[in-house]
Amino acid sequence: MSKSVRDYIRSIVDFPHEGIIFRDVTTLFADARGFRMAIDQLLTPYAGMRIDKVVGLEARGFIIGGAVAHQLSTGFVPIRKKGKLPGTVISEAYQLEYGEAVMEIHDDALAAGERVLIVDDLLATGGTAGAGITLCRRLGAEVVGCAFIIDLPELGGRRLLEAMDMPVHVLCEFE
Ligand code: PRP
Ligand code: HPA
Repeated sequence: MSKSVRDYIRSIVDFPHEGIIFRDVTTLFADARGFRMAIDQLLTPYAGMRIDKVVGLEARGFIIGGAVAHQLSTGFVPIRKKGKLPGTVISEAYQLEYGEAVMEIHDDALAAGERVLIVDDLLATGGTAGAGITLCRRLGAEVVGCAFIIDLPELGGRRLLEAMDMPVHVLCEFE
């Protein structure tokens, strides 16, 4: 049988901490067939929809977002961790297991009424994507969906995003 997107993802035990299994998409990105399949499948729910910008979440969301934006012939906008973007930004804090983190977007990156698609490699607690949705909405954009290669359903991210009225698209799940 031919390989699915999930089959290209490598699992690394005890990274970045003991007891964690890290789902590594570099092996998917490195394979021409796997990478194309992933980008094509990320786009299937949005066929025929108007999308003005693709927003990628640091860091692996940039790789996916660039390819998705090229495919859709849209622009690409990065959402980055605090302190990385050079222009004027708006910021949004979100909860981590211990403490909090902050994501930022340039305040002129999206225009009011623009329809955006947010992409990233992996949905875990949903904190990162939730902050991304809030940042886009604060600029007046309409987020039409969030698409991920991987969902870790036990961590509840999909529930969090759906509670924000956000349609979620994932290609595969890992425990
Ligand atoms: C990972 C992943 C997502 C986020 C998901 O990135 O690529 O962006 O975590 O977790 P969440 O749903 O619990 O917010 P990470 O924070 O490891 O940052 P990096 O991409 O810069 O390495
Ligand atoms: N891979 C990438 N990012 C992550 C993971 C993972 O397994 N778990 C939480 N964030």
